[in-house]
Parts: sequence; structure tokens; C-alpha cells
Amino acid sequence: MDTLKFFFLFLFLFLFLFLSPLIHATNSCATSICFNSSFTIRFPFQTNQQQPQTCGYPGFDLTCNNQGTTVLNLPNSGKFFVRYINYLTQQIQLYDPNNCLPTRLLEFNLTGSPFRALYYLNYTFLTCPSKFTRSRFTVIDCLSNSTNTTLATCSMNLAMGINVCEILVTLPIPVSHPRQDEDDFSSDLSDDLVLTWDVPNCEECESKGAMCGLQDNASQQIVCINNPGTGKANRLRVFQIICFSIVVPTITCAFATAFFIYFVSGGTQRRRNGTTTVQQNSDPAAITPQPTTIIAGLDESTIESYTKVVLGESRRLPGPNDDTCSICLSEYRAKEMVRCIPACKHCFHADCIDEWLRLNGTCPVCRNSPSPAHGNLENV
Ligand SMILES: *[C@@H]1O[C@H](CO)[C@@H](O)[C@H](O)[C@H]1NC(C)=O
Ligand SMILES: *[C@@H]1O[C@H](CO)[C@@H](O)[C@H](O)[C@H]1NC(C)=O
Ligand SMILES: *[C@@H]1O[C@H](CO)[C@@H](O)[C@H](O)[C@H]1NC(C)=O
Ligand SMILES: *[C@@H]1O[C@H](CO)[C@@H](O)[C@H](O)[C@H]1NC(C)=O
Ligand SMILES: *[C@@H]1O[C@H](CO)[C@@H](O)[C@H](O)[C@H]1NC(C)=O
Ligand SMILES: *[C@@H]1O[C@H](CO)[C@@H](O)[C@H](O)[C@H]1NC(C)=O
Repeated sequence: MDTLKFFFLFLFLFLFLFLSPLIHATNSCATSICFNSSFTIRFPFQTNQQQPQTCGYPGFDLTCNNQGTTVLNLPNSGKFFVRYINYLTQQIQLYDPNNCLPTRLLEFNLTGSPFRALYYLNYTFLTCPSKFTRSRFTVIDCLSNSTNTTLATCSMNLAMGINVCEILVTLPIPVSHPRQDEDDFSSDLSDDLVLTWDVPNCEECESKGAMCGLQDNASQQIVCINNPGTGKANRLRVFQIICFSIVVPTITCAFATAFFIYFVSGGTQRRRNGTTTVQQNSDPAAITPQPTTIIAGLDESTIESYTKVVLGESRRLPGPNDDTCSICLSEYRAKEMVRCIPACKHCFHADCIDEWLRLNGTCPVCRNSPSPAHGNLENV
């Protein structure tokens, strides 16, 4: 029975080659996970509860709470929940346990931690009368109550322009994007806080699919360990498992068939030529162009071309306007600068409407497009 011997030898070699990396993949600093989190904890992070003391880098200690959420304790800013850790880009995404990130940002201090913000933007916090909940601004709900409304804007002009509000403070706030053409009316600061770290730098190692670790207890020297479990190494393992689950049954079948044909049928029977019909699913409908809506504001020269008026003592405005700016809901005062949209004659504080038109091409009251291209719209 040479065929059988050969078969078992082959199977043994196969098992050895494909399974041995799986068996040897464990080490004492293996990754761990909090049961209600979607990411693993590994170098430079560690959880003292699950891993030996020497698995992480100083300042990168995490804990799992009773709900299985990952918690980071910043020395000068307190506890944050961790939404995600990206080991490749070296970013950690945090949120407030009480879902009110703005309160935490008002007294945020990264001193004593290895993390830094990606960007900072100066935000001005304002406290306003409660009717502001109906204004064009996004209100920070968790900092507002029935009498006082809090909002934040990164436009100092806008903050100074709203005369019914009191400026609380202007602070550099950590943000995850540099300032583009950001909407100053809807800065609600409730997005997750994204921080990054520079030391230890494992980006190169991670990009090769390997994993960083400490060389030994005493030094903070890091080494790149080619450890299956992440990135490319992980894909290799998946590949091995797939091979294993497909190739082994196929080969076993082939051997069994050969065995059957050779010994039982005596090699006399001819295999019937079975043809398989491959249904070709050539459905070309997959790519349909999506209509895209581009919400564009107006350029500075167009905005500047609209009439500006300085209000007199009578505070009377031209056209269909009352005594309140409908963007910031403040009453007009004497000597304030007002700008009116020519097409519909609606007027607003110049600071308010300029900022608005840079983001939205339409009048905030009647939603008519005031741009010259639509200027021939009939005026009722
Ligand atoms: C997981 O977390 C969510 C919210 O963070 C919580 O509502 C839920 O109870 C947690 N699950 C368990 C099993 O603790
Ligand atoms: C942050 O905290 C450190 C230490 O408590 C303190 O020295 C520093 O002034 C704080 N920075 C700010 C901006 O409050
Ligand atoms: C924030 O304001 C301070 C003081 O006015 C200024 O020094 C700093 O450059 C500003 N930061 C940003 C990001 O604009
Ligand atoms: C609302 O909040 C302000 C502080 O923002 C506080 O002074 C005021 O007493 C609060 N009012 C009520 C009714 O809680
Ligand atoms: C809350 O609103 C009241 C009345 O609008 C105002 O007098 C008070 O200063 C506001 N409180 C804060 C903390 O701004
Ligand atoms: C590393 O430190 C741990 C305890 O902190 C100790 O048990 C272990 O022997 C140390 N290993 C080496 C190689 O120094």
C-alpha cells in the first residue's frame, strides 16, 4: 500500500507546514481586549489587569470598566472612554463618559501625557438667552438650560457681533481637522476627540505588518517583532487557514477517488465527462453615477457687492425687515453694520450674513439664491 503511506506522509507534512505558525504565535505580551470594545489593546498600550507590567510604554495604561469599555485616564484631564485605537496612524479616538465633550474641552490639559492634539482651533464660548435655541447657531445642549444657552464658534467676528450674548472664554480647542471652510454656525464640538502620539514611533514597523515591543524591562528601547496577529501577518494566517480548509479536503477526495478507481473499479470504468455550467452573472448595472449636490457659498467679491448700511439712531431698515437679525436673533442697535441681499431685500448684521453666505448660497430667510446667476428671479 505505497499509495496510502504516501498519502499520510503528505498529510503530515501539510499539517506541519501550515499549522506550526499558528501554534507558535503566542507570547506573554499577547494582545488583549475589553469585552465591549471593537479594538485590541497592544503595544504601546497595555491593560494592567490582563497583561504583565512590562508590556506597554509609560503613559499608555488603559483599563476596562465593568461595562467592558476601554478607559484612558489622562493625568490632568481625567477619564475618557476610548472609541478606537489606530496603531498604524498612531491615533486614539476618545469620548466623554457623560456625552458632553465640550465641558471636558473647557478644562482640557494634556500636560503629563504622551498624547498631543492633531490641530488646535481657537473657539469662543458664548452664553446667550434661551431664545437662541431657535437661531441659526448650533447650541451645545449639554451646556444649556431653560434660561441660558451656550454655543461655541471659531469666528471671533461672529462672537463679537452677537451683542445679546456674553463671551465666556476663548480657548484653543483640540480638533481633528485643520480649519477649512468650516461652518462657524454649527460648531457643536461633539465629535470624538482624536489625539496622536509621537513616542514610541511604531508607524514603520506597523506598516510592515509587524508589531512593536520593548526590548527589555530596563530600557525603553523598542524593537520590531514580526508577530503574526496583525496586518500582513494576519492576512497570511487567514490565507493559510483558507488553504487548509480547501486544499486538505480536495486532496483527500482526490486520493479517495483515485483509490476507488484504481482498486475497486480496476481502472476499467471511464469517467463520464461531466460539464458544469457556470452561470455568468454579467450584470453591468452596478455602476450608476450618483447625483452629487454641491452646496457652495458665495465668493468674497459677490458678498462685498451687496449693499452695506450703517444703522442710524432710528434703527429703521429698508425693505421687509423687522428689528431683529434672524441669524443671531439679536435686536439691531444704532451704528451697527447691516447688509441686505439685493434679490429679496432681506437684511442682516453684516458679520452674520457674510459668514452665512460664505457657506450657503441662499438667503437664510426666504432660501432664494441671491447669486447673480439666479438674479433674474421675479421678486414678489
Ligand atoms: C456595552 O456598552 C454599551 C454602551 O457603551 C452599554 O449600553 C452596554 O450595556 C454594554 N454591554 C455590556 C454587556 O455591558
Ligand atoms: C496644565 O497642567 C499643568 C500641570 O498641572 C500646569 O502647569 C499647566 O499650566 C496647565 N496648562 C494649562 C493651559 O492650564
Ligand atoms: C489662539 O489665540 C492665541 C492668542 O490670541 C494665539 O496666540 C494663537 O496663535 C491662536 N491659535 C490659533 C490656532 O489660532
Ligand atoms: C442655567 O445655567 C446658568 C449657567 O450657564 C446658571 O447661571 C443658571 O442658574 C441656570 N438656570 C437654571 C434654571 O438652572
Ligand atoms: C443666564 O441668563 C441670565 C438672563 O438671561 C443672565 O442674567 C445671566 O448672566 C446668564 N448666566 C450666565 C452664566 O451667563
Ligand atoms: C522584568 O520585570 C518583571 C517585574 O517587573 C520581572 O519579574 C522580570 O524578571 C523582569 N525581566 C527581566 C528580563 O528583567
